Amino acid sequence: MYRVIFAAGARPNFMKVAPVLLEIRRYRSIKSYLVHTGQHYDKNLSKIFFNDLNLPVPHFSLGIGSGTHGTQGARVMMEFEKIVQRHDPHAVVVVGDVNSTLGCALAAVKTRCMNARYRPLIAHIEAGLRSHDWRMPEEYNRRLTDAVSDMLFTTEPTARKNLMREGINPQNIYFVGNVMIDSLKRSLKRAQESRVLSRLKLQEKSYAILTLHRPTNVDERQRLRNLLAVLKKITRILPIVFPVHPRTRKMLVEHNPEHKFLTTVPPQGYLDFLKLMMHARFVLTDSGGIQEETTVLRIPCLTLRENTERPITVTKGTNILVGADRERIMDAVGRIMEGKVKKGTIPKFWDGRAAQRICKALHNRLVSSW
Ligand code: UD1
Repeated sequence: MYRVIFAAGARPNFMKVAPVLLEIRRYRSIKSYLVHTGQHYDKNLSKIFFNDLNLPVPHFSLGIGSGTHGTQGARVMMEFEKIVQRHDPHAVVVVGDVNSTLGCALAAVKTRCMNARYRPLIAHIEAGLRSHDWRMPEEYNRRLTDAVSDMLFTTEPTARKNLMREGINPQNIYFVGNVMIDSLKRSLKRAQESRVLSRLKLQEKSYAILTLHRPTNVDERQRLRNLLAVLKKITRILPIVFPVHPRTRKMLVEHNPEHKFLTTVPPQGYLDFLKLMMHARFVLTDSGGIQEETTVLRIPCLTLRENTERPITVTKGTNILVGADRERIMDAVGRIMEGKVKKGTIPKFWDGRAAQRICKALHNRLVSSW
């Protein structure tokens, strides 16, 4: 029996790990375990997602919590190392680019150095994405996780090029598609049943959705003020619904800029948020995953960043990079309101079957290694 540990810790990890955990159950020779590091612990960032995605109760909860990046990363490593040492898995699977992703990958690879059987294998789902923006903690997490991974599962062709440029063995790169879209496709029907629109008194296509939580956007007082000034202008055209991330809430309290013109709501669950996106006129965001989800839902997405690690959402999808630039944002909004929307196409393998490809490749690799 092969033992495989899946690690997840923060909100954007949960929808990526869910379809793979479901699919791996079909392999009788594999016993899977889920570890929740506890990087996100609020009900709205964690528990709701376990319910909405039908995720199993984690086998291990590490209770890491918040802290500086050094503290958080170190706690993840210390606690995850104990799990790996105790259970001696054949493979550890990490997803995405959060601090927990890197912490678990590093702890696993270090444990391997002390294991006579030279295990576990490290697999990274969503490998090779690069923003080339070194102000983002995620960029370090991505590169360092990929550097220690043995199986690199990619979502778009640029990822392979990035990895090869960094000297990764091409035989370890597997173009499998996007697990986030597996979750989206599986959940669309249930999301349609959500009553969030009537709860928030919204009409289809008559509102925009905003998410904002990147340190570069919310931690810097002036940038946050500039963004809010543009958003205020947009609310003269249509209301903006704003599920506020805890980090952003903290900054809004600290900097106290005017933001009453936004319809603020708590962070939404997975199904409610999908429903809100599906029926929005457009989405304003600095998130990574939302750029991908809007591409598949064919909803215009204005990304409030100067760069993206997911360039296919711009070249093929509905995404437009607008930064925090007043003119670019208002110009894009104007075009959308005139009906001149970017329809886009769906990238290859964003078809709801990425988890199948991943589990097949993982199983084959386990069989050929042990
Ligand atoms: C993390 C990820 C980011 C991801 C985002 C999605 C890193 C470096 N960042 O950012 O890539 O896009 O999750 O949400 O891993 N907090 C709470 N409750 C929680 C969690 C956090 O109140 O359950 C507050 C704490 O004050 C904490 C702050 O939010 O200090 C930031 O949390 P943290 O996990 O460090 O990063 P996020 O901003 O959530």
